[in-house]
Amino acid sequence: MTSRDAGCRLRGIGARPQQRQRLKSGTFALNHVDRMSAQFSRRRFLQQFAAFGTASLMPPVWRDRGSSPDPAADFCAAGDAKAPRLWIPGDSGFLGRLAPRGLPLTMRTVESRGSATANSPGPLAYAVQSGGRRYTNPTLLLQPGDELRVNLVNALSQPTIVHWHGLAVDGNNDGNGSFLVGPGERYSYDFEVRNRSGMYWYHPHPHGLTAEQTYRGLYGVILIEDGDDRALRGALDLVPGSTDISLVLQDRRPGSAYAPTQDDLSHGFLGDHLHVNGSEGPYLDVGSRLYRFRVLNAANARTLLLAFRTATGSAIPFTLIGNDGGLLTTPVRCERTFLATAERIDLLVDLRDAAVGEVVRLETLAFDPMHFEGAKVAPAEPGAMDHSHHGGAAGGHQHGASWPEGAPRALLELRVRKRVAYDRPIPSRLSSLPAIDTANAEDRSFRLGFAKGRWRINDRVFEMGAPPIEVRRGTVETWLIRNYHTSMPHAMHLHGFHFEVLARETSPDAIVALGVDAHGRLATDLGRKDTVLVWPGESVRVAIDFSHPYPGPQAYLFHCHNLEHEDGGMMLPVSVV
Ligand code: C2O
Ligand code: CU
Ligand code: CU
Repeated sequence: MTSRDAGCRLRGIGARPQQRQRLKSGTFALNHVDRMSAQFSRRRFLQQFAAFGTASLMPPVWRDRGSSPDPAADFCAAGDAKAPRLWIPGDSGFLGRLAPRGLPLTMRTVESRGSATANSPGPLAYAVQSGGRRYTNPTLLLQPGDELRVNLVNALSQPTIVHWHGLAVDGNNDGNGSFLVGPGERYSYDFEVRNRSGMYWYHPHPHGLTAEQTYRGLYGVILIEDGDDRALRGALDLVPGSTDISLVLQDRRPGSAYAPTQDDLSHGFLGDHLHVNGSEGPYLDVGSRLYRFRVLNAANARTLLLAFRTATGSAIPFTLIGNDGGLLTTPVRCERTFLATAERIDLLVDLRDAAVGEVVRLETLAFDPMHFEGAKVAPAEPGAMDHSHHGGAAGGHQHGASWPEGAPRALLELRVRKRVAYDRPIPSRLSSLPAIDTANAEDRSFRLGFAKGRWRINDRVFEMGAPPIEVRRGTVETWLIRNYHTSMPHAMHLHGFHFEVLARETSPDAIVALGVDAHGRLATDLGRKDTVLVWPGESVRVAIDFSHPYPGPQAYLFHCHNLEHEDGGMMLPVSVV
């Protein structure tokens, strides 16, 4: 097949046939997942249901587990009685939507005791009280020009700091870890929002503890809304919490401990339970119309290959409308897209043709995760790696988890419950975004590789206080990020600035197959990005405009967002002077 569907090419995925064969036996979580127990899911459901009915929704860390009304009618109507209902962020509670509108917020990093379970988002959380409501890891709703004032109070027994991932801020507000907030201490952030509309996020950034703290529950979403976003919502009749829903994906292991093995540290910490907004394998009742999902991959390390399919396995193409850097200029039809750690996608799925009773699943499809290097040098078991599995879907190792990266799984079930009249066309223009002018750009190149037991950028590992990459403010640079053939994919992220992906070169076949233009770019490379996955053997060229309005040199970071790699030192300081 050579046909393109306005962007994403619709072809067989890149995995070799024998790998696909092997992956067919992969688990489909919604059918037979080893949940804690049906009873547990039910309890959680009861809590969520109870919370929905009250004005002050109790966040998980404060939840009263005692009393709940009986939601049996709604619950029993569902197909898989064990599946929890998707947690939809409301106006309080877990991921609750909170518009500070310039008012100062106090965010406390807290550790809840005794309630840690496989399905809880915790045990760590950002606890916020505002306007008489309590929030856990609130979704911050901002507009360009807003002032964000946050007082971070650290009630953990470890140092921490919050980084606003994707936001264009000065070095002091970036939370890049050059200073930390000790136990019992506080730190004040105060900056003006300069980004365009889009999904951003926040998470801790204390070097060496980022992976642990994020994994254990410290993460939250930021939604910035501007005129383009309002126009889109108006045109498509999208209502937040009903037809416009954020999905935060995180893979977890049972329990709340973060105890990576040597192998986890070299490949990244994978969980075998994929949580969507805090619960595993949830469902959402939907009508036959257009839905918008904004998806954040908040996993420490796992890359997903997202697609929608019917229960019988036929693909339901979706429309990609945005990514890390906000709305694309025009919508792109896709069948599947990779989503690496820290990346975001904004998409529309059209359920107008779905029949009542039909089920559409958001899934991660089988792919070859291409973990090569590190396998043969994993310090724990030298010589124990089976090289015949190189390039195999499991990369030859289990990473301490029973769900190998690249193995397929259903993540969320959309249950079509009612016919609704809906005839809004998707606007052909979503936003405007001028290309970055690279006429006078300076070139810089970065090599990603593994040596002496560590992942490195340009053979360096991060050291506090080491000389930074120096960039002159107001200049445009093009960066060529090259990954070794024997490497593994690295999700490269720059603080403080978004970049334009110019080209992908010498990409693996699975990536070439998803290319949408002559530069080898993927649909998810269009617009602006702050994180880009660079596959083994691949080179990705990006353009960055280092203009900023802050006086003096500003400190940022460039690093792999596989959090085990980042904590292991796959990170370089960047100073924009
Ligand atoms: Cu999302 Cu330096 O991080
Ligand atoms: Cu960041
Ligand atoms: Cu990496």
